[in-house]
Amino acid sequence: MHSTRLNFVRAVLLATIGSSLAAGPAVVPLGTAGNFAILAKSRVNIDAISAITGDVGVDSAASNALNGFQLVQDASQQFWTSAQVDGRVLDAAAAPPTPAVLATAVQDMNTAFRDAMTRPNPDFKGLGDGRIGGSVLTPGLYKWTTGVTISSDITLSGGPTDTWIFQISGSFNQASKVEMTLVGGALPQNIIWAIAGTVTFGSDTIFQGNILAKTNVDIDENALGNGCIFAGKAVSLDKATIIRPGGVAAPPPTSSPTTPPVTSTPPPTTTTSSPTSTFTPQCTPTATPCFSVAFQGLNASIQASDFLTFTLTDTPEECIDFCACVPGGCAFANSYFDNDKNTTMLTCAIYASCHTAADATNTGGQSLPNGGLSTVVNSTGFCLTSC
Ligand SMILES: *[C@@H]1O[C@H](CO)[C@@H](O)[C@H](O)[C@H]1NC(C)=O
Ligand SMILES: *[C@@H]1O[C@H](CO)[C@@H](O)[C@H](O)[C@H]1NC(C)=O
Ligand SMILES: *[C@@H]1O[C@H](CO)[C@@H](O)[C@H](O)[C@H]1NC(C)=O
Repeated sequence: MHSTRLNFVRAVLLATIGSSLAAGPAVVPLGTAGNFAILAKSRVNIDAISAITGDVGVDSAASNALNGFQLVQDASQQFWTSAQVDGRVLDAAAAPPTPAVLATAVQDMNTAFRDAMTRPNPDFKGLGDGRIGGSVLTPGLYKWTTGVTISSDITLSGGPTDTWIFQISGSFNQASKVEMTLVGGALPQNIIWAIAGTVTFGSDTIFQGNILAKTNVDIDENALGNGCIFAGKAVSLDKATIIRPGGVAAPPPTSSPTTPPVTSTPPPTTTTSSPTSTFTPQCTPTATPCFSVAFQGLNASIQASDFLTFTLTDTPEECIDFCACVPGGCAFANSYFDNDKNTTMLTCAIYASCHTAADATNTGGQSLPNGGLSTVVNSTGFCLTSC
């Protein structure tokens, strides 16, 4: 009697505070794979200037394992840097301990994939026969024995501790211009898309969550991903922006080697031309003095055919640095708040040549989940003049 009453009190309490408890399946542990923004077994290919926040790793020593990065080897030889990556780039041809770090990370990736794919008792089975465009998805375990196609915008609605796992036995395709939006405080790190078939994100898509793909992931032009990409085979990016939730992982996956033995050999004299042992990006400390303000305070962004790519930055100065850092001839940076992309960070679009306010004709107008239309505010243009 007493215990029944207690259980009743518990049930009432749970119902009362239920909305503050996490909903959805237990989190899928990513292990050391979670240190990477992009991790692949065989290859990562960049077709056109991309912006990746977080480390990139390929567990392969093949000469084509990393393609399109414009890599600069770090003096430690344990990793590479690239102007397209805020973080390190690692492959299995790098000096120890990198090959072992990558092998472990890929094992952890495979474990996470099996874990996510084999969670029992889905809350939703075969939703929409795999055509889920227009859906609002609440936290839970979703299972499809088919492929999944998203041909119009979807919303993931839940709180900051709620979780989603999507188990997809077939292939996955998010059609071009289609966006995933998070509402209610939902976070991309709590979302897992586990996909046994091939994965395609069309051009101008926005996706949310970590992608655990058994085979290949193709990301088309101007896609933006808030989440990590894990691929059992290869990842191909075309002018994409990939942001690891939490940014660049710390501590670094490659620790410094033990202190080199002290030798009595004197340092070499400076008769040789300057060595490239230390990588100093041409874009730091800041490229701001090299740019002049072309316009500011507009409620429209540039619309022009020499568009290169975009990313999200905290400040206009970071947008300028992004332009200066990216290889391929950026000459113009346009930073603005676009509530279609991210309301707290600046959207940073870069172009091959300078523009004036006359080209600032994109005032937004994308439909938002709340039914309104997106707007562009505080648009500032910066033109590369000289240094
Ligand atoms: C931009 O929009 C804001 C409000 O959304 C308005 O106050 C401001 O005057 C506009 N600026 C221009 C240049 O139109
Ligand atoms: C905007 O970007 C920040 C930093 O990456 C991220 O924490 C936040 O979730 C993003 N918001 C949306 C709506 O994507
Ligand atoms: C708008 O942009 C200018 C220059 O980029 C900056 O100084 C100003 O603080 C920004 N205003 C807001 C409201 O963010």
